[in-house]
Amino acid sequence: MAIQRPKGTQDLLPGTIEQWQYFEEAIRSVCRDFGYEEIRTPMFEATELFQRGVGQTTDIVKKEMYTFKDKGDRSMTLRPELTASVCRAYVEDKLYGQPQPVKLYYVGPMFRYERPQSGRFRQFHQFGVEVLGADQPIVDAEVISLVWNLYQRLGLKGLEVHVNSVGCPVCRARHREQLQDFLASRKNELCSDCQERFDRNPLRILDCKNTTCQSVTEGAPTTKDTLCEDCSSHFERVLALLERAGVVYKVNPRLVRGLDYYTKTAFEVMVDEIGAQSAICGGGRYDKLVEEIGGPPTPGIGFAMGIERVLAALQVQNKLPEAEPKQFGMLIALGEKAQIEGFALLSALRGQGIPVGMDLLGRSLKNQLKSANRQGASYAFILGEEELAQNVMVIKDLTSGEQTEVSLSDAVNEISKKYQRGV
Ligand code: HAM
Repeated sequence: MAIQRPKGTQDLLPGTIEQWQYFEEAIRSVCRDFGYEEIRTPMFEATELFQRGVGQTTDIVKKEMYTFKDKGDRSMTLRPELTASVCRAYVEDKLYGQPQPVKLYYVGPMFRYERPQSGRFRQFHQFGVEVLGADQPIVDAEVISLVWNLYQRLGLKGLEVHVNSVGCPVCRARHREQLQDFLASRKNELCSDCQERFDRNPLRILDCKNTTCQSVTEGAPTTKDTLCEDCSSHFERVLALLERAGVVYKVNPRLVRGLDYYTKTAFEVMVDEIGAQSAICGGGRYDKLVEEIGGPPTPGIGFAMGIERVLAALQVQNKLPEAEPKQFGMLIALGEKAQIEGFALLSALRGQGIPVGMDLLGRSLKNQLKSANRQGASYAFILGEEELAQNVMVIKDLTSGEQTEVSLSDAVNEISKKYQRGV
């Protein structure tokens, strides 16, 4: 049997890859405009980085990591996310010594051993940003408005931006206690996952999708009721700034994220047209993470979005650009001698950066013209034995059908002029 790709992974083929390139161009231009620079870190890291960074009690660390021993008996893990890696790089590469804040972005594959379904993969791709070294509410607002700005540029509609504050370790401890008190008498009504969460991470019960859990938690104390003075005023400021930037958001006091490192602002963006996996972006502030992994106390905030999900939303909403023609022209050489001469012309044209293709299968004139049309070419440059004998070439406009003859010595010049007019 032929070998198949691993479950939960995808081959991105020509025809689809152009959508990825379009999206990547959009993010690079937004990041440039907002002053973010790209970072690339390894695909795998010491397992301990994620255990300490993402948190021992999270689903990611408990169940979803691709962990293996390398030949030196070291435990390594394929990166399930990039925030912890970026913080590691910030410390290891001493980015704290540069002017602060450091504003970084990344694009690349992440790996989580999850149950694959529509919109959920084992190898998926994230675009994310991280800002390190600034604790002001305006940074939170900038990061969220970057997401908003990108989606506006892409023309994405039907967005729900949910924001919340999960507080600092002090107010979170208070919330945790109040929540456990509230739920204690009804603990056995919760789903098995939430019963387990009750002790290790009760806040996560608040965003369980199970309907029974949702009814049990109705009226439960939310982060809003327990925020300390500092967290509360930070949050109010973020909201005021978002308002002024024209970001349409909802405060969702039940929003708690699935990773342990968050403090204060947390947010998520949803689109409902792409099925159950509707979260296209998630992020928040993590003021203790750099310290947690051994660096100097450094505030941080960022987000990551699932590229497969954003593209799915753009596809449903018909917001992806039409495929562009693959070639400007096709050189059609008929016969061995014409092929040699044609190949020289092709090389000269390509040398000038003009996208011209040539038949590689020895097809007939008719089939080569068909193929030129399929490639969306504007012109066919035809060179048969007869033309060759007269030192000319036929230029056929594939839109109008009009044919003209040029001398071989003028061909490159003429084609180049047509190309310049077209671009
Ligand atoms: P996350 O919520 O785990 O956060 O992931 C962010 C986004 O990645 C999700 O909203 C979703 O769009 C996408 N995603 C996650 N898992 C999958 C999957 N299995 N298949 C397809 N897409 C998926 C983080 O990863 C944090 N590092 C975000 C962050 C950055 N927080 C602060 N800075």
